[in-house]
Amino acid sequence: MMQANKTAFPENFLWGSASAAYQVEGAWDADGKGPSIWDEFVKVPGTTYKNTNGDVAVDHYHHLEEDVRLMAEMGLKTYRFSIAWARIFPSSMDEVNQKGLDFYHKLIDLCLENNIEPMVTIYHWDLPLFLQQKYRGWESREVIADFKKYAVTLFEAYGSKVKYWITINEQNIFTRMGWMTAQHPPKMSSEEKLYYQVNHNVFLAHAEAVLAFQDLVPGGMIGASFALHPSYAIDCKPENVVAKMDYDDLKNYWWMDVYAHGRYPKAAMKYLQTKGVAPEFEPGDAELLAEAAKHVDFMGVNYYRSDVVEYNPLDGVDSSGVFNTTGEKGSMTIPGVPGLYKNPLNSNLPTTDWDWTIDPIGIRIGCRDITSRYNLPIIISENGLGAFDTLEEDGSIHDPYRITYLAEHLKEIKLAIEEGSEVLAYCTWSFTDLLSWLNGYQKRYGFVYVDQYEEAVEPSLKRYKKDSYYWYKDIIASDGETLF
Ligand code: BG6
Repeated sequence: MMQANKTAFPENFLWGSASAAYQVEGAWDADGKGPSIWDEFVKVPGTTYKNTNGDVAVDHYHHLEEDVRLMAEMGLKTYRFSIAWARIFPSSMDEVNQKGLDFYHKLIDLCLENNIEPMVTIYHWDLPLFLQQKYRGWESREVIADFKKYAVTLFEAYGSKVKYWITINEQNIFTRMGWMTAQHPPKMSSEEKLYYQVNHNVFLAHAEAVLAFQDLVPGGMIGASFALHPSYAIDCKPENVVAKMDYDDLKNYWWMDVYAHGRYPKAAMKYLQTKGVAPEFEPGDAELLAEAAKHVDFMGVNYYRSDVVEYNPLDGVDSSGVFNTTGEKGSMTIPGVPGLYKNPLNSNLPTTDWDWTIDPIGIRIGCRDITSRYNLPIIISENGLGAFDTLEEDGSIHDPYRITYLAEHLKEIKLAIEEGSEVLAYCTWSFTDLLSWLNGYQKRYGFVYVDQYEEAVEPSLKRYKKDSYYWYKDIIASDGETLF
């Protein structure tokens, strides 16, 4: 729907950037922090690229002032970060670690002093290890009450200072990689029934937090962040169009429908029931999900790439695909579910060195779809390019590829807004470079380069501004006008 009359980015649009505790903080056992499942998982040789881990990460924990100063100098309007559950509750849900709470008070206060709206993610994958050991974490319904307690602790501590809250980051990713593809803790593979049950538990935990929020943070906004994969049928063969519908139901709407409508998509539920892997409901679950959905204020969207969908016969591809964690372009293989779909490469689009499709229009398609289906405001909580960067001798980093990637996506977001989507915020992934879970430190996302710590024995952790840092600064200052 191209129009001649262009509207501007909305007033008070939150130009932002994001991170997650485990990927930036380091200080993995400082000031009373307990271990998380990731602290344990990464120590098993062979689980991550070159056995990299977040023990030090980019040491944001000890560079707090410097990092927020860099954000302020850039003019950032919002900073999305996650709280490490194991800093707040290190070894038991009965004892709060005050030093953990203080750390985030300091971060939030620094943001506010610099006119940066803090945006808190309650859970970005780093479950305290003691909960995994006690009842296998998300596999048990016990986690629902514990998550609620943790969320309430945060609402009470920070609710008067923080308006924007994200309950869960990418539930669809951490559950799939934890229980289906064995790439994340607890490293389980093809546990389909458990995978759907775990997801059900996460939904209930999210729902409890959303309801508790209503009284504790009046005027606040809450939602979940979802890893959105808009999809295209490979062609107009009807069986490929049905495969796309199956894909959307099982890979996108399974999550978004619950957050926004409080119920699972029907066809997908029927399919899983027939297979005997659908989640079991207890009395009250359906009502809880439905009630929470009425109070969700936005859909959080993490967008990196789109997918192509083609029908996959019963004797077709049966794999989650080989995941490219090395940056050797072309090493990824295509995933598929027999009887449903497979995801061939999109020959119309370029890919990153990690084989992720680059598709700016996909973000607009995703926003349009969310607007039509849920009529909710949208927070783009992540979008960015993982790439190799080079630090030049003079301390500069020229990353035109990142600027192009972000600019093209922003232009499409602007079009989505013109077409009726209400987009409140745009957070790039990420502000500083950080640990890319399975891909080490060489896959860089930041506006701020942090001195190479992958190969160095004692990295300096010095911060350097990339060209994209200055570019985004201009974008923010002009409210997006310099994009065009
Ligand atoms: C999202 C996560 O999946 O994508 C981030 O929320 C992650 O934590 C980002 O870093 C990019 O993925 P990756 O695998 O390249 O680090």
